[in-house]
Amino acid sequence: MGFPERRLRRLRSTPALRRLVAETRLSVDDLVAPLFVREGVDEPVPIRSMPGHQQHTVASLVLEAKRLSALGVPALVLFGVPASKDPLGRGASDPQGIAQVALRELRSSIGDEMVLVADLCLDEYTDHGHCGIVRPDGTVDNDATLERYAEIALAQAEAGAHVVAPSGMMDGQVAAIRSALDGAGLASVPILAYAAKFASALYGPFREAVDVTIAGGGDRRAYQEDPANGREAQAEIDLDVAEGADMIMVKPAITNLDVIARARARLEVPIAAYQVSGEYAMVKAAAAQGWVEGAAVAIEQLVSIKRAGADFILTYFAGELAEALGG
Ligand code: PBG
Repeated sequence: MGFPERRLRRLRSTPALRRLVAETRLSVDDLVAPLFVREGVDEPVPIRSMPGHQQHTVASLVLEAKRLSALGVPALVLFGVPASKDPLGRGASDPQGIAQVALRELRSSIGDEMVLVADLCLDEYTDHGHCGIVRPDGTVDNDATLERYAEIALAQAEAGAHVVAPSGMMDGQVAAIRSALDGAGLASVPILAYAAKFASALYGPFREAVDVTIAGGGDRRAYQEDPANGREAQAEIDLDVAEGADMIMVKPAITNLDVIARARARLEVPIAAYQVSGEYAMVKAAAAQGWVEGAAVAIEQLVSIKRAGADFILTYFAGELAEALGG
């Protein structure tokens, strides 16, 4: 005492003062809502491990999109759950496939009110559950998969997707999709690249949401990244930017804040983070037990993801949070 001290508690004494000096602000503009649409159902089907979420019918999907839009949520990311699956995942690129049907319906009913992001992958559509074309020996064929991704991109963009978001972690996927879109007169459709996507145990509930079981108890470690590798994550991001990604994504979010921060310090492209199904389910499960305050934990996590450097966040809390933020 007796000399000027920097006393940081001075700026924490009232809620208004804390609000004034907050460095990071969470707004409804930061949120992207992941939504699931299932082919061949008359009623929405609840997803057990993701309370509050369902596999929508096309009609209930449109209603949910309208609700989110009215709350001010600027974007959604769509996942399709087909009625039948096959080795090539034909439904993913079929103009009559569930995601394309839903995109056309969304585009005609809400137009440009929300950004329609189409998750671009094969796993929801393949009977073996892998994100690519599987060779007889069980490995995923990178370049054969790229041809399928190019077809899916065209189908999604033609159906009305504003943005395509390749999530399969094949090498060269962004370049393949960019050149397919450009070649088809769709040069104005941006790519949100799942650039640093880790092979994570936190995708468990999502697999229920899209009815995916990986054949033979397999996993995605031969194409998604090893959580041990942070430098490699930056290399993945750099490659995607070089191949023409307009925006890049890091996923999962909370376990990879260092990856987000490092990318933010180096790059100027918009950076997204995906707070994935398992991150959502853990908060919901603990809150249901009364062990944590769910809404507070969700906000703390989302603020931290933004503080790390994410420009926007794909989160299953989007609807709830938009309501809480008074949209
Ligand atoms: C692949 C894809 C997955 C997720 C988004 N896109 C699953 C996977 O890679 O196994 C996971 C999203 C989540 O867990 O919320 N199409």
